[in-house]
Amino acid sequence: QKNIPALHEVYKDYFSIGAAVNTYTLTSEEKSLIKHFNSLTAENEMKFGLLQPQEGNFTFDNADKLVAFADANEMKLRGHTLVWHNQTSDWVFTNKDGSQVDRETLLKRMETHISTVMGRYKGRFYSWDVVNEAISDDNAEYLRPSKWLDIIGEDFIAKAFEFAHQADPNAALFYNDYNESNPEKRERIYRLAKSLLEKDVPIHGIGLQAHWNIFEPNLDDIRAAIERYASLGLQLQITEMDVSVFKWDDQRADLTAPTEEMLELQATRYDQFFQLFREYRDVITNVTFWGANDRYTWLSNFPVVGRKNWPFVLDEKGEPKNSFWKITDIK
Ligand code: G3I
Repeated sequence: QKNIPALHEVYKDYFSIGAAVNTYTLTSEEKSLIKHFNSLTAENEMKFGLLQPQEGNFTFDNADKLVAFADANEMKLRGHTLVWHNQTSDWVFTNKDGSQVDRETLLKRMETHISTVMGRYKGRFYSWDVVNEAISDDNAEYLRPSKWLDIIGEDFIAKAFEFAHQADPNAALFYNDYNESNPEKRERIYRLAKSLLEKDVPIHGIGLQAHWNIFEPNLDDIRAAIERYASLGLQLQITEMDVSVFKWDDQRADLTAPTEEMLELQATRYDQFFQLFREYRDVITNVTFWGANDRYTWLSNFPVVGRKNWPFVLDEKGEPKNSFWKITDIK
């Protein structure tokens, strides 16, 4: 039996190491979480629709449990997420008579949500994903179509950052997105962050979600994205990392365990990714996995129904995989 190092201790001179959790995994994966991670993110429970399902009716029970768990185990907290097109209830955009709200009303609702949520935990979350996934995946378009954009206009993004900064002036405020290494989307993300900085909007970082797989994206594109974003003088966090053992739309749903070949490739990829992260330790301040270990991941059953996945460095029992040994062998 090899002595198993704690991930966050191995990386103590580089960046904090996080995991996304929910109320269930806080209990089921408690040991693994406490041993390996020193930062936590709520996978779902701090999204708008879950924190404020009806106007003025805030449901903080699960978020409070997360904060209590982090307090008890001396862990840091990342906030996810304040303004997003997804997991936000319809009431936010709708008047009592069913018509669509106007710009002023929606801005007010945005401000109330941000100030209430961030105010409650003021000083406790070191960073927040203020705006999530606002950039389009379509190269012909800049911003993703959404009710936020429709009703408020392009400055919904700047407004969200301003409200967030008022609510907790010490929190590092992030713009967070996926496909962040795709060269075309990268340039749109860069353009957004640059335009916010030019307007003195309080943005402090870019979150690279890092939903990657064992084939894509390539390392050069990831490096180029890190370089490009860092050139703005912003800090970077790897916010939702997983390395799927399948290409996105691979239809094979018959595997009950990953193949040896998948695990080897995954280990090689994790090794390369973490070498790169270490190289950019001056700008990368956190690396968070979008789950605690292979027992639970949003990628099982998605996007291919019935297809399980094993995207992390710890297996379904929370034990080290080849990938784990690669990323902890840093001498
Ligand atoms: O809780 C309900 C349950 O009551 C219901 O029976 C069940 C039936 O569908 O759904 C459950 O809710 C699901 C929820 O996850 C909790 O498991 C939702 O349907 C499902 O859509 C939701 O998926 C989440 C997804 O965001 C929503 O877009 C994933 O867990 C979560 O990992 C994922 O996280 C996102 C980040 O926030 C942003 N970046 C991408 C990332 C991956 O998609």
